[in-house]
Amino acid sequence: MPRKFFVGGNFKMNGLLADIDRIVDHLNASHLDPNTEVLISPPAIYLLHVRDRVKKGIEVAAQNCYSEKQGAFTGEISPLQIADSGIPWVIIGHSERRTLFGDIDSVVAEKVRAALEEGLNIILCVGETLAQREAGETLKIVEHQLDCVKREIGPWAEVCHRIVIAYEPVWAIGTGKVASAAQAQEVHADTRTWLASHVGKEAAEDTRIIYGGSVSAKNCVELATQPDLDGFLVGGASLKPEFVDIINSHLKK
Ligand code: PGA
Repeated sequence: MPRKFFVGGNFKMNGLLADIDRIVDHLNASHLDPNTEVLISPPAIYLLHVRDRVKKGIEVAAQNCYSEKQGAFTGEISPLQIADSGIPWVIIGHSERRTLFGDIDSVVAEKVRAALEEGLNIILCVGETLAQREAGETLKIVEHQLDCVKREIGPWAEVCHRIVIAYEPVWAIGTGKVASAAQAQEVHADTRTWLASHVGKEAAEDTRIIYGGSVSAKNCVELATQPDLDGFLVGGASLKPEFVDIINSHLKK
């Protein structure tokens, strides 16, 4: 089965209720490529509201979760609560979580395990910093981030259809400096090779590997032509009308 193109919008900590409604209403009114899986991830406080307002065919994701089911963890949201709220997806390991909130590799891996246990689908973010890229460590870093998750969750192949990998070079996020199509393809291809040897050939073929980092309506079409690039995780541009063009970029592939 060919991999279904996948485009997610990560609103981060942006938007008030009226803004979120405007974005959702615009998506609801737009023609979206039926062959692309579409997801939006509003701030946690708006998840249920967006779930109820968004049209069928657009999925909703939490931006983070904790690794416990419940308990004295003030300010956190559990995968159990996310699942119970009818939110089928969660983003885990976003670089802002890793760098600003102490989500080190082992924490990310525990969150992935906990989310899988509750039946959630996951966008697992990986990616290198500028210093790591300049030191020639990109592939090593990404593989290490994947290794940590593999060690924690065990038989990845059984759940591979529930894990979308988002390659998001940290230096490209929110900076306007997008990775070139060739830079993205290199890491995506390497990630697929890692999956083939550590998870299984079939899983490698089936897993969506999406790109994130300054994706815009201008650069998405060229990126989408890359053979191992199966979609996008979009930050800033997902708050704007051009998000629809990014969702539909696969049509132009
Ligand atoms: P950006 O963010 O599109 O604003 O660079 C991407 C992301 O953080 O997922």
